Amino acid sequence: MKILVTGGAGFIGSNVVDRLILEGYNVVVVDNLSSGKRENVDSKAKFYEADIRDSRISEIFETEKPEIVIHNAAQISVRDSVKDPIYDAEVNIIGSLNILELCKRAGVKKVIFASSGGTVYGEQKIFPASEDHPLSPISPYGVAKLAVEKYLYYYYFNYGLKYVSLRYANVYGPRQDPHGEAGVVAIFCSRLVEGKNPVINGDGKQTRDYVYVSDVVEANINAIECDFVGELNIGTGKETDVVELFYMLKEISGKNDVEEVHGPPMEGEQRRSCLDYEKAKLVLGWEPIVKLEEGLKLTYHWFKEIFKGGKYNK
Ligand SMILES: NC(=O)c1ccc[n+]([C@@H]2O[C@H](COP(=O)([O-])OP(=O)(O)OC[C@H]3O[C@@H](n4cnc5c(N)ncnc54)[C@H](O)[C@@H]3O)[C@@H](O)[C@H]2O)c1
Repeated sequence: MKILVTGGAGFIGSNVVDRLILEGYNVVVVDNLSSGKRENVDSKAKFYEADIRDSRISEIFETEKPEIVIHNAAQISVRDSVKDPIYDAEVNIIGSLNILELCKRAGVKKVIFASSGGTVYGEQKIFPASEDHPLSPISPYGVAKLAVEKYLYYYYFNYGLKYVSLRYANVYGPRQDPHGEAGVVAIFCSRLVEGKNPVINGDGKQTRDYVYVSDVVEANINAIECDFVGELNIGTGKETDVVELFYMLKEISGKNDVEEVHGPPMEGEQRRSCLDYEKAKLVLGWEPIVKLEEGLKLTYHWFKEIFKGGKYNK
């Protein structure tokens, strides 16, 4: 079976691609390398450097005729979406719409979409949030993810294009970019291995639900064959605040001289986020396997290896 992965050179996408190759799928990657890296892409996957907004993508669909599309390509920074909501919408809404139109025309059977459980619900009223929680995103990024879910339903209802929208919690693990604003685990790990002190935004009591990338990959694999159509939370149901995360990583790194340093709070940052994954358990047979402590160790050691000899530079 042929699977096209947009954003397949990025953090989550490339981890998904590695597993698809292992499972014997025929994999095509489309990525404009704006944040992804060519070296992340398994050499057994066919790679196209292309932008999802570009009309030339239609040639790739015509040539490759994928049966499944895993759509990961996106502008991923919540803060950048606030600074420039138009750019965010161009990539995350119009780019996605371009992909969905091509899926319809090429007769793609299913789309698996990387949505965001951390943003589509907005400030949660219930913890953890199930998929029935009110949808009130408080960032353009969250609004765009929700808009794409509505388009997915539209294409399913009118054209029978099946979809699974995986609403990820905060994903962390090897290959996450430590240079951006997103991904506190990657940022803290990279600072620790560089011998710098991590800086906690505000009081550090903001919570997130941290899910390890191999668990997210597993959800994608299960979504390929499932009959379910709709939205599924992919998280752990556990909240961890940034101060707790800092002390866990401090211990893992063994850097006893590192101190709890606080910077200014991030304006408009969501306070708490935590996802109920019961539905994914029911329809995908999916559960998070990797405990936070274990995932943080794996991630920290990956960063340590990669930073040796200054290999990981932007
Ligand atoms: N990391 C998380 O915690 C998280 C949480 C929820 C949802 N997501 C979603 O998961 C997906 C993957 O995120 P990630 O964390 O791996 O980030 P990432 O930046 O590593 O991956 C995104 C990839 O998309 C590519 N890309 C960006 N714009 C593109 C364009 N216009 N055309 C083609 N390619 C383009 C980038 O080069 C990159 O390889 C995104 O859709 C993101 O919104 C991530």
